[in-house]
Amino acid sequence: MKFFIDTANLDQIKEAQALGILDGVTTNPSLMAKEGITGAENIVNHYKAICDVVEGDVSAEVIATDFEGMVREGEALAALNPQIVVKLPMIADGVKACKYFADKGIKTNMTLVFSAGQALLAAKAGATYVSPFIGRLDDVSTDGLGLISEIRLIFDNYGYTTEILAASVRHTMHIIDCAKIGADVMTGPLSAISGLLKHPLTDIGLAKFLADFKKGN
Ligand code: G3P
Repeated sequence: MKFFIDTANLDQIKEAQALGILDGVTTNPSLMAKEGITGAENIVNHYKAICDVVEGDVSAEVIATDFEGMVREGEALAALNPQIVVKLPMIADGVKACKYFADKGIKTNMTLVFSAGQALLAAKAGATYVSPFIGRLDDVSTDGLGLISEIRLIFDNYGYTTEILAASVRHTMHIIDCAKIGADVMTGPLSAISGLLKHPLTDIGLAKFLADFKKGN
């Protein structure tokens, strides 16, 4: 499973990259605003800075909601760096723009996906990634992980190559469950990724090994 980090925070991106397990980055307008990155020029420069830190795919979201605007913004974003993946909202014009970019060989990530039907349309339009938001579904008492399973089944039935990118991952168990179900990618916060490291028996075992080594030396 690929690991993406879901943040625009450069320090956190660098920390995940230094761990050696990072395959890419996802951002969205809210995550940019959270870091105080505003204005078209600053946002573009921030995408460039992120691409300099990581080697993999970096999702950059369009703001336009009409086809022409999405194409204009997406082409400008894609021209910044070959690592850029154009992130498009799951609306009719987003699907049209997805097909447009797929035909041009530009990578896309269909975002704000909350149903299997939406994921199927994204795959048919040639999306590189489809992003079901599992945490936001859980927030409204709907089974986010169940949606990942449904999409996995549908994509496998027809051999769609669109990768299932589990998004709105909130904690460590989301990552483990997504891996069991067969999500191709997960994007989550650094805290959820770091949580995978933790086990008290590891800490206890290491302390004992070091204490025993000291006794013998
Ligand atoms: O990847 C999508 C993500 O940024 C949304 O996460 O926690 O705001 O639902 P969240």
